Amino acid sequence: MTVHRLAEVTSTQAEARRLAEAGAPHGTAVLAEVQTQGRGRLGRRWEAAPGENLLLSVILRPPVPVREAPLLTLGAAAGVATALDVRVKWPNDLVDTEGHKLGGFLAELEAEGDRVSFVILGLGLNVNQLAFPGLPSATSLRRLRGVPQDREVVLDDVLRAILAWSAHPGRLDLWRERAHTLGRRVRVGEVEGVATGLRDDGALLVDGVPVLTGEVGA
Ligand code: BTN
Repeated sequence: MTVHRLAEVTSTQAEARRLAEAGAPHGTAVLAEVQTQGRGRLGRRWEAAPGENLLLSVILRPPVPVREAPLLTLGAAAGVATALDVRVKWPNDLVDTEGHKLGGFLAELEAEGDRVSFVILGLGLNVNQLAFPGLPSATSLRRLRGVPQDREVVLDDVLRAILAWSAHPGRLDLWRERAHTLGRRVRVGEVEGVATGLRDDGALLVDGVPVLTGEVGA
């Protein structure tokens, strides 16, 4: 597993894509200390204090159809949540038991016809950052565990978990075990109700109604 370590980038997603397009193999990772244009889900920005967290993108080359791509991220999130002993908020936010967010995944896909060519799986994980001005629902591993964290150890745990679980046949069961969302009252866009399950295509069932994309609100 090669990790390209960079001081400052616009986004590790862009660096990893460049490497993937040049033929870098499955499991190649890019890690940066600073991102000037960190990207989050749903068109948001991802902000992180320089040098304190993990800003990581991993190239995945799974031999699967495009329709299965969302399951890779759910699997990676379940694996990383298990490795770090935290929970998953649908679809793939890493949260503590109170729902405070420690990190999130962003997957960007390249396809050839209906097959996945590669996926750039980005993870922003708050490791040692203590203050999150203006983000009351954010937290970090250090805040959760009460002591400074060794980022190299966390990186190793996270990379192993992503590679072991993104395409694992038991990934959705692991997700269900690690879920923070299931059994709770949620709102996703217009849909409101109790999150009753995770369907095999990754949809969240809210009072039995499948929701395929969006974010779980309060
Ligand atoms: C989310 O919105 O929860 C997903 C955030 C993903 C952020 C990570 S940081 C490393 C990688 N590079 C980016 O620009 N985004 C992802």
